[in-house]
This record gives sequence, structure tokens and C-alpha cells, in this order.
Amino acid sequence: MKALVCNSYGNPSQVLGIENKSEPTPGSGEVLVRMILSPVNPSDLLFIQGKYGNQPNLPQTPGFEGVGIVEAGKGLLAWRVMGKRVSVIGQGDGRWQEKIIIPARQAVPMPSYLTDQQAASFFVNPATAYVMTQKVLKIPAGGWLLQSAATGALGKMIVKLGKKLGFHTINIVRKQQQAEMLRKIGADEVISLDQGNIQESVMKITKGKGVSYAVDAVGGEVGSQMILSLARNGKMLVYGRMSGEPLKFEPGDIMKGQKTVQGFWLSEWAKDQGVLTMLGLFGKLGVFIRDGVLDTPAGPIFDLADYQKALSAAASDSKEGKVYLKINPS
Ligand SMILES: NC(=O)c1ccc[n+]([C@@H]2O[C@H](COP(=O)([O-])OP(=O)(O)OC[C@H]3O[C@@H](n4cnc5c(N)ncnc54)[C@H](OP(=O)(O)O)[C@@H]3O)[C@@H](O)[C@H]2O)c1
Repeated sequence: MKALVCNSYGNPSQVLGIENKSEPTPGSGEVLVRMILSPVNPSDLLFIQGKYGNQPNLPQTPGFEGVGIVEAGKGLLAWRVMGKRVSVIGQGDGRWQEKIIIPARQAVPMPSYLTDQQAASFFVNPATAYVMTQKVLKIPAGGWLLQSAATGALGKMIVKLGKKLGFHTINIVRKQQQAEMLRKIGADEVISLDQGNIQESVMKITKGKGVSYAVDAVGGEVGSQMILSLARNGKMLVYGRMSGEPLKFEPGDIMKGQKTVQGFWLSEWAKDQGVLTMLGLFGKLGVFIRDGVLDTPAGPIFDLADYQKALSAAASDSKEGKVYLKINPS
């Protein structure tokens, strides 16, 4: 079988190669999944560059999520998903290969109403959007959330979730022309970095109070300005590092008003949850994706052999929708 393999960390379109591997055999409690489709997420690009939080020893196949068909397995949990189309969630061997072995509990059956693209992007972004806003920040209806990277796949999900659940969003974008698209999907306010200062704009919108909730995927100057935009007892979750720059703030900036800056990583959060919480979460995500609230804007699909084109497209600032790798025919 074919697998994309990362032999050294570096430029994503240069350090990968397609290799032949022997097909693995599942052990007890494991399943063999024939992969169909996998998205190229920012976390995959960071992983290949050697900048992701958990870097395993190389060589390694990248790909954090995707959809496939369970072809074989051992044990009761494996029998439950045999022959089914499943979302492959959680850590472990990368998804950018024709077949992989995963623990059976990481194979989540996908309802037939989800397309392969929706099923391939079932977990990472939808769960992060839902968990950050509803389980960690617990934003009440009528609350105000400030977010960066609002034009991204995850940012748009948060805008639509706010519209659905009744919290308001202030969205930071890089260019004024991105504002209209966000307003159309339900953004209450948009701050464009080419037009104004984040803190001043937030204070104007909130009549000098600041926001009680914020989520930042950018860091650097943007994330630092967001901290200054928090209200008394406000909380900001840091969940990405798109700028590659550190956050900079004075201790007094968070001491005054007792503000909180907290990291969020979905895989860390999931480790602390019980089976029932996770099953409840999967059910909610399926419905919200079906209803277009947590759906991923679908972009181009590339064959595995065209991985260099796929990775360049995924890294481009002007991409339209999420880029996917087709690993096997569905
Ligand atoms: N912590 C977790 O568990 C977790 C889980 C899922 C995702 N994430 C993170 O969430 C983030 C968004 O993921 P996604 O799938 O939505 O990505 P995406 O669709 O590729 O969108 C990327 C977003 O980041 C913005 N951006 C990129 N570089 C930037 C920069 N230098 N300064 C300001 N904005 C910049 C883009 O703005 P433009 O539209 O202007 O290009 C866009 O809004 C990523 O950082 C990812 O790693 C974290």
C-alpha cells in the first residue's frame, strides 16, 4: 500500500515522499481502516514543519483526521464498526496512507447524511468551535465573543454557532473586503486590521466595557491586542499560532480586572472526558454539521499523488475552502 512519509521536517511541499509499505494487521481492540479522504489542516502543515506541539520521531506519516471504511478488526468494539464509514479521530498513525490501524474507539461511525468531505472534517474544527464556546467558556446567549482568524474554516463555524445559539461575535479579519462575507453568515461586528486598532474598535462596540470572552488563533500583535480588549474577569482561550509570533503583555494587563489567558488544545481536553461526554459531543456535531452550522467550506480535492499541489494550495492565503487529499476511491 502507498503512504505519504515525512522523513525530515521542513517545507511541506519538499520533505514528503510517497513510499510503499506492507499492509498492517489489526490487533485486539483495533481496526484496519481503508482511508478515503483527509483534509489538509494548519496543524498538518505545522507538524511537517516541525513546529507542532507533539513531534514524534521520524519517519512518520502526517494527517490528523479523515474518513474511511473499516475493513477488518478484532474485539467487540471493532465488530460494532465493521464495514462502516467512520471518522478517524484522535492521535496515532497519520491518515495520509491507504490503510491505517487505529484503536476501535477512535473510529466514529458517520451518518449517511454527511458527505465524505463533511465526514473527513467531522472532528477537529467542529469540536474545537463547539467545545471552546460551549464547554470551556460557556458563553451565555447575549454574551459577546471576540475572535481572530475569523475568515478561516473554524472562525466561520464560530460565527454560525453564535448566530444559532444566540451569542454575539466580534470578528477580526486582515482585509476589509473579507467583512461582507462574514456579515452574510451572521457576524455581528467585523474589525479589519487594515482599517483600525483592535482594542479601540472593541471598546467602541462594547461602550468601553470590553469583551468577557475571546478566542485567539493568531498570537503576536493580534492576540496581544485582544488581551487588552478583555472586560473585567474576561477570559481568552489561545488555540493557535498562525502568525508564528509570541503574545506580549505586561503582568498588569491581566492583573487589573483579574483577566484570564488560557491555552486550549482539543486532544488535551478530550483526554479528560468520559465516554458519555464524547458520545454526546459526536451526536451534537453530526446535527450541527448537517444543519450547516459547523460545516467546513469545501475546497479542492487532490489525489494523493498530487500531494505537493495540495500542500501548496492549503498553505496559500487566497485559498477558497478546505483542501482535501483523496487517498482511495469511496
Ligand atoms: N487548539 C486546537 O485544538 C485546535 C483545533 C483545531 C484548529 N486549531 C487551529 O485553528 C486555526 C484555524 O484553523 P482553520 O482550519 O480554520 O484554518 P484555515 O481555514 O486555514 O484558516 C486560517 C485562518 O488564519 C488566518 N491567518 C493565517 N495567517 C495569519 C496571520 N499571519 N495573521 C493573521 N491571521 C492569519 C487566515 O486569515 P486569511 O483568511 O486572511 O488568510 C484564516 O482566517 C489554526 O491555527 C489551527 O491550528 C487549533
